[in-house]
Amino acid sequence: MKISPSLLAADFANLQSSVAKVEHAVDMLHLDVMDGCFVPNISFGPAVIKALRPHSKLFFDVHLMIERPERYIEEFRKAGANGITIHVESTENPAEVLKAIRALGAKPAISISPDTKAEVIFPLLPLCDMVLVMTVYPGFGGQKLIPACLDKVKELKAEMARQGLNIPVEADGGIGAANLESVLASGVDVVVAGSAVFGATDPMAAVDAMREIESSLGT
Ligand code: DX5
Ligand code: ZN
Repeated sequence: MKISPSLLAADFANLQSSVAKVEHAVDMLHLDVMDGCFVPNISFGPAVIKALRPHSKLFFDVHLMIERPERYIEEFRKAGANGITIHVESTENPAEVLKAIRALGAKPAISISPDTKAEVIFPLLPLCDMVLVMTVYPGFGGQKLIPACLDKVKELKAEMARQGLNIPVEADGGIGAANLESVLASGVDVVVAGSAVFGATDPMAAVDAMREIESSLGT
């Protein structure tokens, strides 16, 4: 299991120290970009990512919840994004955007919201280095995981096997120690956790607790 804590749940007045708290315990840093249009919330943009970049060596896993992300991928890459995830629902030609992300030297990923069927992204899988399955409606941290969304992880893994691909699947939304077992059982490779990590009094202890759960499962 890789852990990608979502900065959305961190103290926005102290982002640098929030990242430092988990820097050596996690695998990536999940950065949720919201435009108030694709989702009904506004978070932060490339300037914040650029400001954080010199303070962390983590892989910046940038999740774009914005309309027509093609307008901004270059800016996010320049700001320091290592991976750029776009929503299949956010653009007319996701294939071209994924190719453009790769051409910029970043790792492309495609995301599906809860109401989008897994099969919609089957043709895009060869263009992706990761797939993000939303387990809540995008827009806000601190929501409850929708269990039915996890069924899509199995469907995607089966389709990947059919296509001869092996792409990590990330799950995002409402994940924490309490439901980690069922999330991992569905085949998820990368776990995003916002409130469960940065909302905890001790983010490091929260990450350790998640790792302990994983090892107790023997996965
Ligand atoms: C929701 C975001 C998530 C969110 C996760 O739109 O994409 O990454 O920050 O936060 P929690 O873990 O609190 O659900
Ligand atoms: Zn996210």
